Amino acid sequence: MAFKVTLVSTSPIDGQKPGTSGLRKKVKVFKQPNYLENFVQATFNALTPEKVKGATLVVSGDGRYYSKDAVQIIIKMAAANGVRRVWVGKNTLMSTPAVSAVIRERSGADGSKATGAFILTASHNPGGPTEDFGIKYNMENGGPAPESITDKIYENTKTIKEYPIAEDLPNVDVSAIGITSFEGPEGKFDVEVFDSADDYVKLMKSIFDFESIRKLLSSPKFTFCYDALHGVAGAYAHRIFVEELGAQESALLNCVPKEDFGGGHPDPNLTYAKELVARMGLGKSDTGGEPPEFGAAADGDADRNMILGKRFFVTPSDSVAIIAANAIEAIPYFSSGLKGVARSMPTSAALDVVAKSLNLKFFEVPTGWKFFGNLMDAGMCSVCGEESFGTGSDHIREKDGIWAVLAWMSILAHKNKDSIDGDTKLVTVEDIVRQHWATYGRHYYTRYDYENVDAGKAKELMEHLVKLQSSIPEVNKIVKGIRSDVANVSSADEFEYKDPVDGSISKHQGIRYLFEDGSRLVFRLSGTGSEGATIRLYIEQYEKDASKIGRESQEALSPLVDIALKLSKMEEFTGRSAPTVIT
Ligand code: G6P
Ligand code: ZN
Repeated sequence: MAFKVTLVSTSPIDGQKPGTSGLRKKVKVFKQPNYLENFVQATFNALTPEKVKGATLVVSGDGRYYSKDAVQIIIKMAAANGVRRVWVGKNTLMSTPAVSAVIRERSGADGSKATGAFILTASHNPGGPTEDFGIKYNMENGGPAPESITDKIYENTKTIKEYPIAEDLPNVDVSAIGITSFEGPEGKFDVEVFDSADDYVKLMKSIFDFESIRKLLSSPKFTFCYDALHGVAGAYAHRIFVEELGAQESALLNCVPKEDFGGGHPDPNLTYAKELVARMGLGKSDTGGEPPEFGAAADGDADRNMILGKRFFVTPSDSVAIIAANAIEAIPYFSSGLKGVARSMPTSAALDVVAKSLNLKFFEVPTGWKFFGNLMDAGMCSVCGEESFGTGSDHIREKDGIWAVLAWMSILAHKNKDSIDGDTKLVTVEDIVRQHWATYGRHYYTRYDYENVDAGKAKELMEHLVKLQSSIPEVNKIVKGIRSDVANVSSADEFEYKDPVDGSISKHQGIRYLFEDGSRLVFRLSGTGSEGATIRLYIEQYEKDASKIGRESQEALSPLVDIALKLSKMEEFTGRSAPTVIT
């Protein structure tokens, strides 16, 4: 079928600067005339017309409200820009890690490979007509566009005058698998709809020993529950956990993807994953019955994960450290060793201790997955993670929620390989974590989030904290005035990173106060919100003494919390007497 290309005049729209992970705004902002179109064309222009012509592009996402409209618009614009093929996940669904896998691994029927992707998601932000939509671009390596590209996109949004579109191209039926072919002024244009679970399952099977996990899941001693929070993870969970690994159907909670995530907040943490938290015996109200041995949740686009044991929460910072410590033995993909490990700056130093003990290359990078991608492309990093519930490896260039669950299942299967059939007690998630603390010491850790704070006030608070850093003796005077029982602050700075691969420098990546005993306070402004500002406060204390590793973390950290709140004048600046979320 033939289509024509029309050139539509437009003008720049303010505020199209991509954040940590693309452009995220309320749906009503995206629905403004030309809003999405301007951003998409700005991206095509940043990539350059030569690269766009003939390209194979993936366009899909977490299926949130407005995705179906957005996909059709992008298909029409891709056709008009001379793109050769667009690959769409069935019903526009493709998790962020699956997009990365598809870019890296999939070959089309004619041997074609994808050159990049528009991922339609606002990740863990709520969805629906009055909530958030988002779009980000991923490159040929399967990872998020680097700052050099996102800066260009932003510059282009400020000067855009027109975009081409194939207005008469009929909407493609994204619910039916298959290829639809069109003929444009520049030749053939195909839209292929497929189920990305096939590619994703294949990749997972090449990494993990599914047989040993299947054995673990078949044991009556081991019980499991997975909550997709109505995000896109549900589209993979049934296939992997039930069909491939033999878990019970009843192990799946909220695994039907919904445009509004069932009205919930699709962020896998102790506050928002309420049902799972209750099932795991960690909620305020008891659901009755014995909680499962292992529980996990994902965010809207399935790149985040939360790992829980029976009545036990595993901090994401501990999770990546434990995966790194056990990867070589428990996960076939890593059996020949780890190239290196990395964490984001605000993530606790639990991984550092493992790296040191196993003599592994170690990197501390700014918040944002793209920094890991550079290390991985250069063969310097195998496993990495962030405090923000992201864990992953160099199998793709995004964090991977289901991968993290399979990594934990592999560790559980490995630790239980002799006991799974006999009468011996199961080695539980909690056992594994406590054993890890006994070996490496424990990093008590908590994060306080102050969401939707007045942006001006948040900036003032950060400026105040930077100003304080000019005199450490002065900081210590304040600290000792608040609590005499904490260590001295030994240094304070704003984190700055020089990428060891491309030499690029990222400044102002978080305000740090480092204490003599290894404790840390970190303050950052979130880069993923869509309204106002979110202040994140990260609090950490290292305890090597095995007799002191069993405390409740909020209690152990309360002196440092006290200092952080008073030092930053949190209540004074924000008017908030308590954080919105504590993890
Ligand atoms: C996204 C990125 C992560 C990052 C997180 C930070 O999820 O993919 O790499 O850690 O945002 O979010 P924040 O709201 O703290 O900027
Ligand atoms: Zn996400």
